[in-house]
Amino acid sequence: MNKAENLSFDQMVTDLQQEIIRQEREIFSETVIAEAHHPQNVGRMAQADAQAIFQGWCGDTMEFYLRMNDDVIEEIAFMTDGCGATVACGSRLTQMVQGLPWQEAIEITPENLIAVLGGLPEENEHCATLAVKTLRQAIADWQGS
Ligand code: FES
Repeated sequence: MNKAENLSFDQMVTDLQQEIIRQEREIFSETVIAEAHHPQNVGRMAQADAQAIFQGWCGDTMEFYLRMNDDVIEEIAFMTDGCGATVACGSRLTQMVQGLPWQEAIEITPENLIAVLGGLPEENEHCATLAVKTLRQAIADWQGS
């Protein structure tokens, strides 16, 4: 590729990225887009105190890992093979509950999470349910251990 071709290829990539972001903004809130593009607390935790894997009705799965300090969620991590909205839900939920006692974390509902994210399209509301259910299952794992 010569320099002129490189420039036009770079421009094409930039234009494509701009178009994708423009389309995302029509569907998702800025918060969802930011969380999906720069998720926090992603990964699997070695030697977690509690963990859960849960499959949503759409077939996507989510995993949560907890490190506890007495009743407090000291560290948390998640993984998912789901869509960008699911990544945003997992990321934001981990940030919401880190440092909270599990008794408060378990009270968070999918509606709470959706509100903090600035809303989700109806077809993605189940992504928040998947995140909340997986967290609750991980807390149940902690209670059972
Ligand atoms: Fe299935 Fe997001 S589309 S969890």
